[in-house]
Amino acid sequence: MVVKKYFNESVENELEEAKRKIDSVLNQKDLEKIYLEIFGKSGSFTKFTKQLGKAPQSRRPEIGRQLNEEKKELEEYFEKKRSTLNAQHLATSIDITAPSKKPAIGHLHLVSQAIEEIVDIFKRIGFSLKSYPEVDWDWYAFEALNMPKDHPARDEWETFFVKSKPNAQLGNQVLTPHTSNGQVREMLRLKKPPIRMLNISRCYRRQVDVSHTPMFHQFEGMLIDKNVSIANLKGTLDYFAQKFFGKERKSRLRPHHFRFTEPSFEIDVTCGVCLGRGCRFCKSGWVELGGAGMVHPNVIKAGGLDPKKNTGFAFGWGVERTIAMRTEIGDIRLLFQNDIRFLEQF
Ligand code: FA5
Repeated sequence: MVVKKYFNESVENELEEAKRKIDSVLNQKDLEKIYLEIFGKSGSFTKFTKQLGKAPQSRRPEIGRQLNEEKKELEEYFEKKRSTLNAQHLATSIDITAPSKKPAIGHLHLVSQAIEEIVDIFKRIGFSLKSYPEVDWDWYAFEALNMPKDHPARDEWETFFVKSKPNAQLGNQVLTPHTSNGQVREMLRLKKPPIRMLNISRCYRRQVDVSHTPMFHQFEGMLIDKNVSIANLKGTLDYFAQKFFGKERKSRLRPHHFRFTEPSFEIDVTCGVCLGRGCRFCKSGWVELGGAGMVHPNVIKAGGLDPKKNTGFAFGWGVERTIAMRTEIGDIRLLFQNDIRFLEQF
């Protein structure tokens, strides 16, 4: 062999010696150390390449080609060993039978889930979802609802007023304290009964305790048509209570007073925490779902319709309270504290 003759067999020896070393290596780190000893800057194989320049001109191409072949063979030997060691390492360091870690998958917030469910329940009986301004004029939030300026009934809504230029007809702007601002807006928009509105929106009041938050959500239903009666209202309430809370929860109507409905009611459902026994959250065993009543003739008139020809009912309930009634949540403020440990439970 040309190389053998020129380098006195030392390339062949070097090759055999390197293979022996590679065979006996037990880990990747030692293998790379040997690689450097052979192919590094002053490695044993590198020295042959350096000597090539000293070979007679006529023999250089042939010797060079053979050196390359030897080098290639050795590189392949290294690569094979690398793969073997790598496979051994994976097999011993990773337990492929261990259960994998599932990535955390988020879900809708409890309030969003409830809103989707409420929309679905009312959609099935013909109500369609509407949305009206969260910052609205006094006229829609109060005056058109039979609550003239300075009327004491307004106090119950503990309203946030917006510092802005008042409108001559519509008054000041407010952060909507209830979704009833949608009643007249929807009548004025549709102009023609039947009207079956579901208005869901954020509402704001200067209130905070276990059952009140300064920002909360209400859902408001309103039906305006010919010959609508309290029986239709009661039927709608029972339908919702059954679908949302289940058959074991009871509801009741209590006579109440709202300026925009006549007669008016408050609707209670047995508390979801104590199921009617009485607890810190509900005190009496009942939790208030919200208000309802037959739309006042003055409101129908403000909506541009004739109260002699049209009647209707409306109700307005809090989403957070509705959730609390169905679950074990004793403090609705938990819904907005963004504690993932709490939210993950739903
Ligand atoms: C009203 O807001 C009337 N607009 C409801 C209505 C609509 C009556 C249509 C008649 C016809 P009330 O102030 O009672 O009513 O509030 C209704 C419900 O909103 C309450 O029962 C409660 O469930 C929820 N709610 C009120 N204030 C808060 C608050 N600060 N935090 C959480 N939920 C609240």
